[in-house]
Amino acid sequence: MTLLISNIRNLIHVEENPRLIYKGQDMSVIQTFENAYLLITGSTIHSYGESTMEALKKIRHDHPGIIEIDATGRYVFPSWCDSHTHLVYAESRENEFVGRIKGLTYEEIAKNGGGILNSSKKIHQASEDELYESSISRMNEILHLGTGAVEIKSGYGLDTENELKILRVIKRIRDTSNLTVKATFLGAHAIPENYKGNKKGYLDLLINEMLPAISAENLADYCDIFCEKNYFDKSDAIRLFEAAYKHGLQPKVHAEQLSHSGGIEAGVECNAISVDHLEYADDNDINLLNNSSTMPVILPGAQFFLGLKKPPVREMISKGLPVAISSDYNPGSCPSGNMNQMISLACILYNMTPEEAILASTTNSAYAMNLSESVGSISPGKKANVFITKEIPSYSYLPYSFGSNLVDKVILNGELMKEDSF
Ligand code: NIG
Ligand code: FE
Repeated sequence: MTLLISNIRNLIHVEENPRLIYKGQDMSVIQTFENAYLLITGSTIHSYGESTMEALKKIRHDHPGIIEIDATGRYVFPSWCDSHTHLVYAESRENEFVGRIKGLTYEEIAKNGGGILNSSKKIHQASEDELYESSISRMNEILHLGTGAVEIKSGYGLDTENELKILRVIKRIRDTSNLTVKATFLGAHAIPENYKGNKKGYLDLLINEMLPAISAENLADYCDIFCEKNYFDKSDAIRLFEAAYKHGLQPKVHAEQLSHSGGIEAGVECNAISVDHLEYADDNDINLLNNSSTMPVILPGAQFFLGLKKPPVREMISKGLPVAISSDYNPGSCPSGNMNQMISLACILYNMTPEEAILASTTNSAYAMNLSESVGSISPGKKANVFITKEIPSYSYLPYSFGSNLVDKVILNGELMKEDSF
């Protein structure tokens, strides 16, 4: 199929020479193209240019039967990339939300059998089909909010059977979804009840049983760990990652979310593709990241929802680091996968500029999934994953009008998505 989007008021984040990553000062400038057309052939971006009568006439002549969308007054963006979600889960946890409103902390809720262990209990009771059905409705939701590529973690199984069950659901989602999907094994999300006081035994299980089983079915791209007080520490992470590499899985780390626990150090030492959360990242961590190829990923939804300390975003950017934004969509710390909302939060809470937030949610977040060669910007040859906005006055209007859904039409792999096309 050939698709022409004409009369685009402004085409956002165009790249003639695509880059894999935007760092520091380079995050403050975004290339745009006013009064543009975008030509899509098959699943690929073919070209863009000025939407003049002559240019459109020539395209129509060269591509008989071309489908055309008139985008007068509208903006076209590359689809959002969301490199951190836990969107396969069985039940919501609004009772814990109410508990926190009444004064309990996330840590206290977890200690009383809530939190990750609560989600784990629920996932044990759910069948693969039930999990698949509830997850695709979440996929459908984020698709229509402009997300085109997403990473999904396991981590609510906490035993071999249930971690495999989640990863098989993710594989099924990947095989049937229009979104580009990456899978992460997060068996090291918490220590399950039956291993209480025996963290080493659980790590042995992760390394000797789960990793080989996952790798035999080729179910994961990455291996993640929750580096946190009362969960796992830096040395656990290094031990797990050494084993993960043997099965071809690159590390990702939940790092410095509730305390400073050495997750960034472990991530940099083990060449993680990303370290995520970063509320307690310090100067030393920033220096370490500066000499690495690891992407710092912030999750403004979780920081906001749990009322945590803010991550040092301006310090990271002013010291030359790249930053990516993702959602952390999960039932406990961020029950939203709305990337538009994450971008607004990043601008409002961390003083990121709209340009920085857009680059952080496209190319940089794609980098955190090893996808920035193929998605994350409007560039000839890249996958045709874009969305068309409603009529808006500027691109800054997107983070400014927080809470509104300004995404009107979604095109993934060159195809216009319908209401139920997850
Ligand atoms: O990224 N921090 C650990 N994991 C999730 C929360 C999981 C949960 O509470 O269910 C997070 O915030
Ligand atoms: Fe997370």
